[in-house]
Amino acid sequence: MNPFPGQPVLGLESSCDETAAAVAIRAPDGTLSLLSERVAGQDDLHRRYGGVVPEIASRAHVERVLPVVREAMRDAGLGFGDLAAVAVGHRPGLIGSLLVGTSAAKAIAWGRSLPFLGIDHVEAHLLAGLIGRPRPRFPALGLVVSGGHTALFRLASERSIEPLGSTIDDAIGEAFDKAAALLGLGYPGGPALDRAARRGTAEAGAFPVATIPRERLDFTFSGLKTSLLYTVRGIPVRPAGGGPATFPREAADLAESTRDDLAASFELAAVGQVERILTRAIDRHPAETLLVGGGASANTRLRATLEALGRDRGLEVVLPAARHCVDNAAMIAATGVLRLEAGERDDLTLAAEPLARSVAAGGRRG
Ligand code: KG4
Ligand code: ZN
Repeated sequence: MNPFPGQPVLGLESSCDETAAAVAIRAPDGTLSLLSERVAGQDDLHRRYGGVVPEIASRAHVERVLPVVREAMRDAGLGFGDLAAVAVGHRPGLIGSLLVGTSAAKAIAWGRSLPFLGIDHVEAHLLAGLIGRPRPRFPALGLVVSGGHTALFRLASERSIEPLGSTIDDAIGEAFDKAAALLGLGYPGGPALDRAARRGTAEAGAFPVATIPRERLDFTFSGLKTSLLYTVRGIPVRPAGGGPATFPREAADLAESTRDDLAASFELAAVGQVERILTRAIDRHPAETLLVGGGASANTRLRATLEALGRDRGLEVVLPAARHCVDNAAMIAATGVLRLEAGERDDLTLAAEPLARSVAAGGRRG
């Protein structure tokens, strides 16, 4: 039984470079629904550095968090007193960034004596696809592919999540970002690589992927990245008179069409590995549903590959809307609704935690 029918939960997200707030609710027809969602991104602040600068990110969160929360509450037509709980992504992520959202959420919860929920960011990515649709069938397999995480899970229900495997080095989104930087495709890298790959032609087997032992359900992307580095810039050579080895060429020396083809082949190799490990997981853990989430699940080839795999193996594939693949607060608020319904609560002493834990094994950044 749902002890909180129709009670709205405010969710805050600030783990990396998006300041976001959303209000989610269990609608009368049983769907997890959104009353509002707002995101303030920071791409323009970090572009010139080619990556997220933690101190700049936390300062921007401080400026944006209250306006974003106010807008989300106004869009939902609610006051703080109308809320059933306040949820916040409290781990993992950049610690300065996490502290801003966590402090704001605690202040609202404390000021209004509302239940407080600290949400695991990776768990929220995993459950993001449940927004706005009927409850899927369980057991399910779960795949989180983001800038900080690449991990597989088995779910007996939305509240029973067991990790099966994760990346042993880079996350797939991080590999996409680094490949885009290496190819000079622009910032943010993942979407730029996706666009270049759509223009290019993929060559199967152009990039080798290390073989993970058959009994494991883990991923590896760092060798793939090194292989792209040598393909783009050549094998480093030591000058005759001594000194450090240098690369013989730059990405800019390659024709644009060659870079597009390399982007397509790199993407094919990375997505191919996800497909292989997922196939192993399906063989070992029969499931009705595949839940997918995280920024890299916005990738065109990955989405098409997973949908085809689902059709072949008779699994329903649940993919979030593009805006719910990347960091957002809707997934935090929706996970908050699920946890509140399950009777879960956190104490206001709950700390922001930079590192992944349990559910979130397998990555570095939020
Ligand atoms: O989930 P997210 O916003 O942040 C983390 O929790 O890490 O994921 C960000 C990642 C970045 O690495 C970005 O390059 C990747 O998602 N990404 C994509 C695409 N859109 C975002 N990767 C490939 N293709 C895309 N279209
Ligand atoms: Zn994320």
